[in-house]
Amino acid sequence: MISKVSAPGKIILFGEHFVVYGNRAILGAIDKYVTVISEKTNTDNILISSSLGQISVQKDEHVSNIEKKFRPFFYIAKQVIEQNNFDKGITIKIESDIPIGAGLGSSSACCVAAAASVLNLFNSTDQPLTTYEEKVLELAIQAEKTIFPNTSGADCTVSVHGGIIEYQKEKGFSKIETEHEFNFLVVDSEQIHSTEKVVNQVKRFKEENKEVFLELCNEEERLISKALDAMKANDLDTIGKCMAQNQIFLEQIGVSNDILLEITKEIEKITFGAKITGAGDGGCIIALRQKGDELSEYVNTTKYQTHHVSIQKTGMQVFNT
Ligand code: PMV
Repeated sequence: MISKVSAPGKIILFGEHFVVYGNRAILGAIDKYVTVISEKTNTDNILISSSLGQISVQKDEHVSNIEKKFRPFFYIAKQVIEQNNFDKGITIKIESDIPIGAGLGSSSACCVAAAASVLNLFNSTDQPLTTYEEKVLELAIQAEKTIFPNTSGADCTVSVHGGIIEYQKEKGFSKIETEHEFNFLVVDSEQIHSTEKVVNQVKRFKEENKEVFLELCNEEERLISKALDAMKANDLDTIGKCMAQNQIFLEQIGVSNDILLEITKEIEKITFGAKITGAGDGGCIIALRQKGDELSEYVNTTKYQTHHVSIQKTGMQVFNT
């Protein structure tokens, strides 16, 4: 049996970084995907291949000895092999159209698609969908923690469930039910960032500026309530203004830089509003645009790579082959 699963990337509309400290964040799944194909093998090895390379390692190897870029997928395969007392190995093939290290949820989507694909190889057919989704999410988050222990789990959650979600570490997630369509221009600064490094930098900022950070958390909460009302009312003007305000909060905690600021200033002149998405210090800027407005003049002249994305209602999808 071949098990094929696709999982979407994401943008963070509001609340990155603050979500690490218990605040809410709003995330949306986007129409850019990772596809993972897995298969049982007759060897004792776990074989992983992606655009980043390929490894074939004995399944008894310790997870910590695996190169970081392959570690989450080795962890997934090893866990599932052990849970099912399987005496052979697994191959995992990863294909992705999500830019790496850009804040578009590439690593989480890879973890979700790999967890779903490998679990599906051993899936009992009478298992309810919700149980399968819960197992996928748990395994994907654990896998991501092998390289990024502080992950809030928000990215994996939206990749499993799709649509727009409100996420809080302690309370989990709820879907924002809306029929409205939201379209964005994503501008990639092409500066690869390390989420772990930026999260640690914010941790230091928080420790050195306790009161300022607490006040920003409170302001971000109020902003999110306002943004949610605007999203339900399809009030693009207000959503854009909330994004611009969120960008100011992100600048205050030090995760923006000159290039991100330059892109934001340029793009907010021709859209409803723009902000960093994800960890910052590189990665992407998202801008809310009118449906059908391709912003061709900017797209055709900017030196940065751009993507038109829209929010996808569906999350991961299993293709039985
Ligand atoms: O890894 P990124 O760039 O998609 O950003 C993750 C978002 C953070 O809030 C910075 C960290 C987290 O785990 O939520």
